[in-house]
Amino acid sequence: MPICTQSKFITGDHKVACKWPQFDRDDEEAVIRVIKDGDVSTNPIIHELENAYCKYTGAQFALAHNNGTSALLAAFFSLGLQPGDEVLVPSATFWASIVPMTWLGVVPVFCESEEERLGIDPRDMEKKITSKTKAIVVVHLWGLPAKMTEIRKIAQKYNLKVIEDASHAHGASWRGEKCGILGNVGVFSLQGDKLAPAGEGGVLLTNDQAIYEQAICLGDITRIIQLNSPVRRFAVTSFGVKTRIAPMSAALGLSQLKKLDQHNKIRNDNMERLSQRLEILGINTYLADAHIERVYFEFLISWKEAPIPLTRIIEIILEQGGQAAVPRYPLLHQQPLFVENNLENILRIEGWKSTYSSVNLPKTEAINQNLIKIPCFTQKNTQLVEQYAQVFEKIASGDLL
Ligand SMILES: Cc1ncc(COP(=O)(O)O)c(C=O)c1O
Repeated sequence: MPICTQSKFITGDHKVACKWPQFDRDDEEAVIRVIKDGDVSTNPIIHELENAYCKYTGAQFALAHNNGTSALLAAFFSLGLQPGDEVLVPSATFWASIVPMTWLGVVPVFCESEEERLGIDPRDMEKKITSKTKAIVVVHLWGLPAKMTEIRKIAQKYNLKVIEDASHAHGASWRGEKCGILGNVGVFSLQGDKLAPAGEGGVLLTNDQAIYEQAICLGDITRIIQLNSPVRRFAVTSFGVKTRIAPMSAALGLSQLKKLDQHNKIRNDNMERLSQRLEILGINTYLADAHIERVYFEFLISWKEAPIPLTRIIEIILEQGGQAAVPRYPLLHQQPLFVENNLENILRIEGWKSTYSSVNLPKTEAINQNLIKIPCFTQKNTQLVEQYAQVFEKIASGDLL
């Protein structure tokens, strides 16, 4: 039975506290400037966005895209992956981290997630390496940098490329280096939910000129001719898709990037304060270790010793006027695209048979079943932080069961 309104613990206004994206006059003016300029297709604002991402992350090259999905396709293409090549991937991520590779005939090989930071599990990765393995997709899920020390060691040992999907991790860093430049090629989505939203947009980053040029060849035909290299011969045809960002989005993405650190600080202050309270109760809030700086795209917690099932905890939080849910991504290895053998038709590799229906990732499934998503407070908010902390304290003490 829902509890009557007066007795609810959580009374703060989520609409205000969780408002995202947040656009202000600067953002509006940035977009309007492009429209007034009239060049709404190849406007130099695109280069400004790319230069700003290079400056912010330390990357040598950036290429803006119309979304993160196409930036990921460009990343796979730019590494020269061939049909039948295998890429180690996590199952706990958004589909776009991996599905674009299948259009190149490249085979995703699912690996377990690890418990500490919810990224791809380096130990399971190593077990799944074959003579066909060419690369690894690393996703810094929910803003938590993945286990890069171990991942880099394996990549080096087996000569594998690292593709970093940093779409949840604008501003996060690992050992002082920004996420997005920790592998051979990195990608940010700038979609509307993300930490530096552009409406729709994506940015590919790399320190490797050949990768940058290949990415241009795939999707930005007007820029191929500007390259001082043999790939200029593709200036008439490119490689079949067009993935350039719209300048209005580039303007918004640039304006938001300028405010990224300030916005992240507000989220981090709120969520770290709540985390301190929850950790005392034995709840894992995935606070960052000393050598990483995490950001909060979303706030996920796990409570192994919870006094009641997590589904009941979610119900109680909802009854108390709060918001709570299971993680937003269903595990990919269980999806029809894989288990119904549909990939055979997309990959079209002679003799290749799908074995996804027998993929088993018990550790990942257990981790996922143990996660609860709590709202991320994007505005400074002490009231809701206190109210959520109190509800968890009441659950822990048995007062709200
Ligand atoms: C982890 C991750 N990768 C890739 C994408 C794809 O980005 P886009 O929506 O910009 O295509 C998203 C989000 O949308 C994402 O969350």
